[in-house]
Amino acid sequence: MGRKFFVGGNWKCNGTIEEVKKIVKLLNQSQLPPPGVVEVVVSPPYVFLPLVQSELRPEIQVAAQNCWVKKGGAYTGEISAEMLANLGIPWVILGHSERRALLNETNEFVGDKVAYALAQGLKVIACVGETLEQRESGSTLEVVAAQTKAIAERVTDWTNIVVAYEPVWAIGTGKVATPAQAQEVHLELRKWLAANTSPEVAESTRIIYGGSVNGANCKELGGQPDVDGFLVGGASLKPEFIDIIKAAE
Ligand code: G3P
Repeated sequence: MGRKFFVGGNWKCNGTIEEVKKIVKLLNQSQLPPPGVVEVVVSPPYVFLPLVQSELRPEIQVAAQNCWVKKGGAYTGEISAEMLANLGIPWVILGHSERRALLNETNEFVGDKVAYALAQGLKVIACVGETLEQRESGSTLEVVAAQTKAIAERVTDWTNIVVAYEPVWAIGTGKVATPAQAQEVHLELRKWLAANTSPEVAESTRIIYGGSVNGANCKELGGQPDVDGFLVGGASLKPEFIDIIKAAE
């Protein structure tokens, strides 16, 4: 069975109620490929999750941008996986490079969060990716393998995981990876999964690309054999997000 195309919109720390309603309206009014062709998930900031979930057309799902690593309790400022599950939020993004870099999230911590979120019934978009320095020093594959390994050591069932390859140098920079660069890393990640989990997991797990995806570059990127969709930042707040979803067709 083929891997269904997946398009995620990561709204990051952006938006007012008015702006969020505008994006929801755009998504609700646009003609999109059928859910059998593409899975679409948008990820607003926590505070807008209930609003977006209640107003969005049902075939588009929502994701939180993070959750806590264990059962909730005395962790001021955190949101637990149980709370997301309780609200009926199906997805969570974990390990985004902004959190790894700005909040010092380690591979192990991200792996623990992935395992805990899955155990609470959430589906996970798990982000990996190298910095420019790491790419230039030739350690891209080593870096993404180590990030993926920390997840693989803690998880046996990959059914509810989508891996997002997001090279840090391409995020928010307008400097998108070439289709060949994306395909190379996606293929290596798939080979890594085959060798370290199982050939079935490697074959069925969606590996999506993130980093300056836009309406103009999405088609060629999405046409690569191992690119199973996108995690979109800036462009997910604009009408061109619809074009990116349509790249699935
Ligand atoms: O998670 C999505 C992301 O980090 C890419 O952001 O703005 O480069 O599309 P952007």
